[in-house]
Amino acid sequence: MIETRGMTKVFGGLVAVNDLDMKVRRGTIHGFVGPNGAGKTTTIKMLVGLLRCSSGKGLIKGLAAGSKDARRIVGYSPERPPLYSDMTTEDYLKFMARLSGLKSAEAVNRTAELLDLVELTGFKDSKVGGFSAGMKQRLGLAQALVNHPELIILDEPTANLDPTGRRTVINKLKKLNYEHNITILISSHILPELEQLIDSVTLINKGKSVIENDLDQVKEDFKRDRYRINTSDNKRVIDTLKVKSYVDDIQVDQAGDIHITCLDAQILQDDLIDIITEHKLRLTTFDEETIKLDDIYSQSLNIGEEQ
Ligand SMILES: Nc1ncnc2c1ncn2[C@@H]1O[C@H](COP(=O)(O)OP(=O)(O)OP(=O)(O)O)[C@@H](O)[C@H]1O
Ligand SMILES: [Mg+2]
Repeated sequence: MIETRGMTKVFGGLVAVNDLDMKVRRGTIHGFVGPNGAGKTTTIKMLVGLLRCSSGKGLIKGLAAGSKDARRIVGYSPERPPLYSDMTTEDYLKFMARLSGLKSAEAVNRTAELLDLVELTGFKDSKVGGFSAGMKQRLGLAQALVNHPELIILDEPTANLDPTGRRTVINKLKKLNYEHNITILISSHILPELEQLIDSVTLINKGKSVIENDLDQVKEDFKRDRYRINTSDNKRVIDTLKVKSYVDDIQVDQAGDIHITCLDAQILQDDLIDIITEHKLRLTTFDEETIKLDDIYSQSLNIGEEQ
């Protein structure tokens, strides 16, 4: 659905997006992550035709990004949607629907559908200017869907929402993808939330792609044998295990749980059973720790390896 080939944007002396090759498969939800200033918004703006590439190109379903044909199949919700504050919610959406080429009657129907979708029907006669940041963002999402797009590109769509609002938007996005097969490219800094939503991910830093793959594959690549253990005598467990050659790292967290990274999980398990039986300890926790998108992000960017 999306392909960029050597996409580059230079602002004066600053290379904001640097030779980016990125692919988003049709029908997927693709996360776009990276630190502040990494180049996400700049990339998105080139994809929707708000900025020209300095070199390279972007393709939407094989069509030149920003071309009229490409724009027809893309919906876009910017980080801070520019809304006409004097209009009512209903008039605003109708106006956007007409702009996207819908006839008057179609625009009325579409507006009602979208107000229902983003749960703003009760505010259809309210002026947009008085809306909270979260309501504006929901209206921005509705506006992105006005032309029945095959692809929606959302720049931090949940940044200003409260937890309930975020969950609502995330569930809506899942539904749009699942029921209408809409491809979604979503940038976000809220990684635990993004992780619940996406199929695949691109991580960029300083305009360059650092990781791009299916989320499951990225997790597999970063997987370490890491276990969380708690017993009735953690000190004894730590003292016994810390000298073992297969143990890479042992930490204790604030809750008192032991976190062990090891090179051979089988020997760890055998040794742990020995310690527990020999000293008659009680084992209260033994979990394999799954890697989180947050950990992958920090490791890839070498941010604070605290554990
Ligand atoms: N119009 C512009 N003129 C000059 N520099 C710009 C312009 N737009 C963006 N930049 C610079 O390009 C770089 C990338 O910015 P961009 O907004 O794409 O980052 P981002 O990944 O979206 O960051 P954030 O997570 O903070 O939204 C930054 O260094 C930014 O200052
Ligand atoms: Mg941005």
